[in-house]
Amino acid sequence: MCKDAIVFFNKPEGAQLEAGETYYFCMCGRSKNGLFCDGSHEGTSCEPKEFTVEKTKAYHLCRCKSSNNLPFCDGTHSIYSDDDVGSKISSE
Ligand code: FES
Repeated sequence: MCKDAIVFFNKPEGAQLEAGETYYFCMCGRSKNGLFCDGSHEGTSCEPKEFTVEKTKAYHLCRCKSSNNLPFCDGTHSIYSDDDVGSKISSE
């Protein structure tokens, strides 16, 4: 988690990922699609999270930026309402 992150959305998004491919997960919540880094973290304390997957399949990726298992959704998004989208993430 990054303390400067904002809630991109209060639900995850499915993404088809390829085994062995390197991905850069958006940690700041400011990228255009909320999933992958596009450089929008500049000026924040956030850095993208580099990751790979072992199996080619669809994964639920976190868009609330608060999962305890980033980049994957762990259900933490349930603490956010629609009004929290675009706000700073909860520090708890
Ligand atoms: S979208 Fe972040 S935990 Fe589900």
